[in-house]
Amino acid sequence: MTPMRAKSAPPSTDMNDTSEAIVPDQTPSAKSHPAPQSGPVPQAAARPAEAKMQAKNVNFHYGTFKALHDISLEFPANKVTALIGPSGCGKSTFLRSLNRINDTIRGARIDGEITLDGEDILKMDVTSLRRRVGMVFQRPNPFPKSIFENVAYGIRVNGLASRSELPGIVEKSLRRAALWEEVKDKLQESANALSGGQQQRLCIARGLAVDPEVLLLDEPCSALDPIATAKIEDLLVAIKDQCTIVIVTHNMQQAARVADSTGFFLLGKLIEHDRTDVIFKNPSKKETEDYITGRFG
Ligand SMILES: Nc1ncnc2c1ncn2[C@@H]1O[C@H](COP(=O)(O)OP(=O)(O)OP(=O)(O)O)[C@@H](O)[C@H]1O
Ligand SMILES: [Mg+2]
Repeated sequence: MTPMRAKSAPPSTDMNDTSEAIVPDQTPSAKSHPAPQSGPVPQAAARPAEAKMQAKNVNFHYGTFKALHDISLEFPANKVTALIGPSGCGKSTFLRSLNRINDTIRGARIDGEITLDGEDILKMDVTSLRRRVGMVFQRPNPFPKSIFENVAYGIRVNGLASRSELPGIVEKSLRRAALWEEVKDKLQESANALSGGQQQRLCIARGLAVDPEVLLLDEPCSALDPIATAKIEDLLVAIKDQCTIVIVTHNMQQAARVADSTGFFLLGKLIEHDRTDVIFKNPSKKETEDYITGRFG
């Protein structure tokens, strides 16, 4: 068992609390890209997609309660993986383990192995891990600052660009998050004056500004209307060329629309993980079928 670092307070979802607003602050140069291939490479073509992150035999306890049982799951590079399952089955616990946000929970402990590019994240410096693995939460949590400053935040605190480069990076990030047209004339206004859907896209822009290698999203659309949801889904598909995405969702249509593969969790166990079309059309486990057909419970 590896005891997790404990702090006195659990993470807050207060919009003014920036402690949980993980802004990955990876430098572009640190990002790993597969080498371009100049010709056919039969062996490589036969291999499964390279795993950007990998969980092996992960168990997670909150005190005496075991929330995750022996989870093994790979996240292939430049793919979207959806995690689905009923409330309380451990989706968020698992997602939050991937950039060690659970470290802040007193009495929580994890064992097993989670790797990022083959390196054990439990042994990594947590700041450098979160430079590379960003997170967007269910409830948008913009900082109580201007729209511009929200997006520029991660770049500023990590000194990733000069002052003169900031406006260009902010614009690019807001465009990638499909928010630019709505905010370009009010960049100095408070982020708190934006609608919920705009705030969520702002949080995504804030995460994207520092070029994360992996983006974790925990039910990012649960409070959004269908138009804002569609914008975020389009965005996820558009950015997967540049990062690996893991999304927790209760919306199975959303998983079907955006995810290359889907994992079904039940009572802290990963019941099944496969290509999304297989999970939804031809699952191999009865529990999965019961859940996706609405017979669960
Ligand atoms: N901080 C905590 N302390 C103790 N138990 C916790 C804590 N957070 C979650 N749990 C428990 O761990 C289990 C998994 O919770 P988790 O939040 O991971 O579920 P989930 O699948 O994300 O559910 P939902 O779909 O409702 O968000 C639940 O039984 C929950 O009560
Ligand atoms: Mg959850």
